[in-house]
Amino acid sequence: MVVSKVVNYLQLAQPLDLILDVGCGTGHSTQAFAALAKNIVGVDHSKAMLSLALSGDNIRYEVQSAEDIDQLGIRPNMIIAGQSFHWFNRRIFLKKSQQILKEGGTLIIFTHAINHSELAEMDKDFPQPFPVQTKFKEEAEILGFTQLDLLVTKETIRRSKQDIINHLRTLSSVEKEFQSDPKLAASKLGRYFFNVQDQEEIELTSSSQIWLLKKT
Ligand SMILES: C[S@@+](CC[C@H](N)C(=O)[O-])C[C@H]1O[C@@H](n2cnc3c(N)ncnc32)[C@H](O)[C@@H]1O
Repeated sequence: MVVSKVVNYLQLAQPLDLILDVGCGTGHSTQAFAALAKNIVGVDHSKAMLSLALSGDNIRYEVQSAEDIDQLGIRPNMIIAGQSFHWFNRRIFLKKSQQILKEGGTLIIFTHAINHSELAEMDKDFPQPFPVQTKFKEEAEILGFTQLDLLVTKETIRRSKQDIINHLRTLSSVEKEFQSDPKLAASKLGRYFFNVQDQEEIELTSSSQIWLLKKT
């Protein structure tokens, strides 16, 4: 969905020379964007994540932190950060992205979340382990980017309670609580959709944001 929205928005007819995927994890975003470039480099500061990364003919991976991408010695036409930007020192990352991007290059930042009234208190039950972001547009503009657009999508999806709980268990905020106090974390998680059977389906909102920024 993100790839097709980016292609349509930027009217990309030819493959770009080089894309850099920052915080690429196990390479799902890298593989998805590989079709848009002659070459794509995925970087992550976690060797463990990269050891499981998906391969591809035009894909290469390197261990590197978002704050040190200038040390890669490359000049990408596009930088992407999927489900990862919130972890970065975003000021340093934006500054370095601006430095290494080719003239007129783009920075694409995307996130995804599920919402349901039962999960309204989740941020209190399981505090986010990363800083909450404010004034992103202004910050990006000061650091040399123009915001082309912010694409927001919301769709209704149906998932079984078990699938939702399994998904919640993958969130770093939830994992952190399980590591420090597993009993308490399990009891907090057990309160969500308490009256619903494991296989019963629940209607949720799936929402995504795609920030499209251009090097000024
Ligand atoms: C949720 S995963 C996203 C993976 C991938 N982009 C995707 O969309 O499937 C977030 C990744 O960001 C990485 N990460 C977090 N902080 C980072 C940093 N400062 N520099 C590089 N990678 C970082 C984590 O190691 C993790 O692999």
